[in-house]
Amino acid sequence: MSEAQFARWVELVRRRTGMQLAPERKSFLVTSLAARMRELGCEDYDAYYALLTEGPRGAVEWALLVDRLTVHETRFFRHRPSFALIRERLLPQAPVPEALQPYRLQVWSIGCATGEEAYSLAIAIDEHLSRLGGRYYFGVTATDISLSALATARRGRYPGKRLDRVSPDQRARYFRRVAPDTWEVVPELRKRVCFAQLNVLDLARAPLAPMDLIFCQNVLIYFDRAQREAVLAEVVRRLAPGGMLVLGPGELVGWRHPELERVHYPDTLAFRRVARAGGGAA
Ligand SMILES: C[S@@+](CC[C@H](N)C(=O)[O-])C[C@H]1O[C@@H](n2cnc3c(N)ncnc32)[C@H](O)[C@@H]1O
Repeated sequence: MSEAQFARWVELVRRRTGMQLAPERKSFLVTSLAARMRELGCEDYDAYYALLTEGPRGAVEWALLVDRLTVHETRFFRHRPSFALIRERLLPQAPVPEALQPYRLQVWSIGCATGEEAYSLAIAIDEHLSRLGGRYYFGVTATDISLSALATARRGRYPGKRLDRVSPDQRARYFRRVAPDTWEVVPELRKRVCFAQLNVLDLARAPLAPMDLIFCQNVLIYFDRAQREAVLAEVVRRLAPGGMLVLGPGELVGWRHPELERVHYPDTLAFRRVARAGGGAA
């Protein structure tokens, strides 16, 4: 692949996914493209580029290629301090008064990959709220650009080693064994989680209800700073007054937003949307 071809591909990937492919990732791009081009019997990068950028067939082909270019590495309770933060700073610490029940919470996992983050959020919230007692309702909307990752997420089946951070109690309550080394999320938890395809670069067009908690970890790390800030500006618009945005620590050092205040909690990067005087946040 010539440097000119590489530059063209880098621009296409950046424009469509936000991902910045640094020069040292050229071999990764070449390997990913070559594997797919071999399957199609296509020998020329330019011909494949043309196929990808033209018409409905291009859109279908793009969805397949995106799966290979994106990193889906994840695990249950990946960043434990962020879950502790939710339990201690977002969820109620005492039973919710009868008059305010059912307690309601809307959650969004952005870049949910194969679903572990979304199910971890559902487990942490359900565990906490059920311990407090009273009536409650919560839903987790989990979105990603990758259709194959979302298909795995919807299946909700994981090999035992993926559950290494799930406690024995959580495993007994929220999973059932469906094969010697395969665990499936129980239907009661699955029905709380809804998966949908969404490119974070298209957020302006995404109709999402105000969220009480937005988790966005290890997605924006592939974007440049300007893109991270542009995406987060849209994300903040979907945060309810008082709602919390949790990023991965170190993902956007020094970032400020006029409608957010920093939530200080060890080893985390989190913000709360402040309600404006005289009404809700605009
Ligand atoms: C490394 S995984 C992070 C999974 C999970 N959030 C975690 O922290 O464990 C990154 C995910 O971001 C998704 N992603 C990358 N670019 C995206 C985009 N433009 N829109 C939506 N999702 C994207 C990838 O498909 C991948 O599943």
